[in-house]
Amino acid sequence: MKVLVTGGLGFIGSHTVVELQNKGFEVIIIDDCSNSDENVLEGIKAITGKKPLYEKIDLKEKHKVEDFFQCYQDVVGVIHFAASKAVGESVEKPLLYYENNIGTLVYILKELCKKNKASFIFSSSCTVYGQADKMPITEDAPIKVAESPYGNTKQMGEEIIADTCKVTPSLNAIALRYFNPMGAHPSGEIGELPIGVPQNLVPFITQTGIGLRDQLSVFGDDYPTPDGTCIRDYIYVVDLAKAHVIALERLLSGKNESNYEVFNVGTGTGSSVLEAIHSFEKVSGRKLNYKIVDRRPGDITTAYADTTKANKVLGWKAEYTLEEAMNYAWIWEQKIRD
Ligand code: WQD
Repeated sequence: MKVLVTGGLGFIGSHTVVELQNKGFEVIIIDDCSNSDENVLEGIKAITGKKPLYEKIDLKEKHKVEDFFQCYQDVVGVIHFAASKAVGESVEKPLLYYENNIGTLVYILKELCKKNKASFIFSSSCTVYGQADKMPITEDAPIKVAESPYGNTKQMGEEIIADTCKVTPSLNAIALRYFNPMGAHPSGEIGELPIGVPQNLVPFITQTGIGLRDQLSVFGDDYPTPDGTCIRDYIYVVDLAKAHVIALERLLSGKNESNYEVFNVGTGTGSSVLEAIHSFEKVSGRKLNYKIVDRRPGDITTAYADTTKANKVLGWKAEYTLEEAMNYAWIWEQKIRD
């Protein structure tokens, strides 16, 4: 069965393509390479032996989206990763985020609504919860006012899909709310490739560990947490990728209970910034050079998932720990700097 993966050359997208191919799906990737590299195709092929079909398309060009679905009428499902995802950048360039993250979603949904049956997996984020009142966070936790245009595009994206599914029985969708993805494939063939200075913690840690960055700044240690640093749910990217395949198979097999479902995808365990640093030091045997600086505006104190629904209803559970994921992140960092 043919599956379209938009943003399939990206970090989570590429790992999901591998898991789809491992389960026998034929994959077509659409990516505009604005934040990824075509060489990732070789990495995927090195792992699975199969090079996915690839179309370099800017999904903001509506007619190109229409042409694609005309050409590939046998696509049974779409996993939609393609989006801009830098929180800080979204504050400076909101229209770029609304056009890229919302406009493209609408174009894809319009095409899927033309089909007799379509399955759609949406890359959402725990960002939609803002600072949740209760830990661990369940799917029915209130959606708070978004703290950034990026977070708003995830909230709006979910609403657009829900509204569309309400009037389109032929469209079956699942939104996966990721917590903090990290790590790299065990093969060392694919992993995170941040462009420029990493915004996210884990790539900054490994780049500091390998000497690419002088020092990691820890954004605040005066939070109301055991060690004063923020707590997050760091989920291994391969675990996350597998969740996408399981979610898609749920829709394709008609096991979904409604035509729009939402699942948290995390480990269910919270880890602090200092704990992440210590896990790096343990797996690498290196001391990490870091300093405590002021808080980063917009950061929430704590977020980790209640994974009961994903475990019981989706039948998915994270298998890897923070330390195991950090080990793969470190192996990857060393490989790409060779
Ligand atoms: C994690 C923790 C920082 C960098 C964001 C988005 C989320 C998703 C993942 C896209 C925080 C601290 C970080 C550094 C630090 N993005 N930190 N020094 O902010 O939880 O989530 O990225 O899907 O939607 O909101 O991830 O990795 O940026 O930060 O101390 O150099 O690490 O303060 O506490 P975040 P992060």
